[in-house]
Amino acid sequence: MILQDLRKHLDAVLESAFHLLPIPAEPASLYDPVRYVMGKGGKRLRPRLLLLTAGLCGGKPEDAIPAARAVEMLHNFTLLHDDIMDNADTRRGMATVHEKWDDATAILSGDVLFVLALEQLAVQGAHAGLSDAVNTRLMQRFLEAIRIVCDGQAMDMDFERRDEVALPEYLEMIGAKTAALLRCSMELGALTAGADEDIVADCGEIGEHAGLAFQIQDDLLDAVGDTSKFGKKVGGDIIEGKKTWLTIRALERADDTDRLLLRQILGSGAAGESEVLRAIRIYHDLGVIDDAVRAIKEHYDNASQKLALFEESAYREEIKLLLDKLKVRDK
Ligand code: IPE
Ligand code: IPE
Ligand code: MG
Ligand code: MG
Ligand code: MG
Repeated sequence: MILQDLRKHLDAVLESAFHLLPIPAEPASLYDPVRYVMGKGGKRLRPRLLLLTAGLCGGKPEDAIPAARAVEMLHNFTLLHDDIMDNADTRRGMATVHEKWDDATAILSGDVLFVLALEQLAVQGAHAGLSDAVNTRLMQRFLEAIRIVCDGQAMDMDFERRDEVALPEYLEMIGAKTAALLRCSMELGALTAGADEDIVADCGEIGEHAGLAFQIQDDLLDAVGDTSKFGKKVGGDIIEGKKTWLTIRALERADDTDRLLLRQILGSGAAGESEVLRAIRIYHDLGVIDDAVRAIKEHYDNASQKLALFEESAYREEIKLLLDKLKVRDK
């Protein structure tokens, strides 16, 4: 299949997967927020990776639709709860669910999205005629990833309260809160195609590298992105006192005066615009922004190198192009 046809086909499969989701009408207070968050898209990165990985491993993307829905629903569940945890009022250029409705609504709609995700995964086996053994692996990998995401989210919040976090701890945290789901998406894609365990593991590794890059880049965009494209409030991580790639590197490198100032800004819990700009100025001056760009490239390159070990195919090419596009994303 030539590349353009493949992309068109994939877009069509994704569109059909998310156009008509089995979301009940009532109670509206529970399901309207689910429709709100699932309907307005986002990048759909995880299901796209999952479907492409199914193709990479010799399967048909359309056979993996339930699993693709499952990872996207799970992702959106994490966002509903994450936005409460991070006091975020804007996502995808719109009000977050807890802001538009309230915390209780965002918690319960998130919970039900979690269940809807599991329901999708439960029908994947029958959809693609998978063996019981493969079906069990699918569920195991999915559940393990969810638990790891929770571990990562807990670390993320614990780190807010700590003065110092070392880079390896940060990498462990983002490996869990973000990379685990990208890893899982690629593993599930491989499993739906009936791939052997070593191939599943290789696919997972590509997802892991991409996930680390993706979160460092999210940290970067949170400081120097353009809100109108990024769709989230720029500076949000500084206001919340997050230990991001930028914060950690800057605290390592700053002299005593800047370190004290950064700690004050991050610890205040209510940094104003001028303090946010001051922190970003420090990041620039210390070369932390340029270093983040390098780190992002390095992790995406690791993903591409692992991918290059796969046999040549249009799917391999399309995943490579997707990784290259992600490298320069602004949203
Ligand atoms: C946001 O993920 C959460 C992170 C892991 C940084 P995305 O940037 O993939 O969110 P959407 O779905 O495209 O909005
Ligand atoms: C993303 O962390 C991880 C999860 C949502 C599980 P962030 O808190 O950085 O994500 P955004 O920036 O709110 O999308
Ligand atoms: Mg968060
Ligand atoms: Mg957040
Ligand atoms: Mg973020």
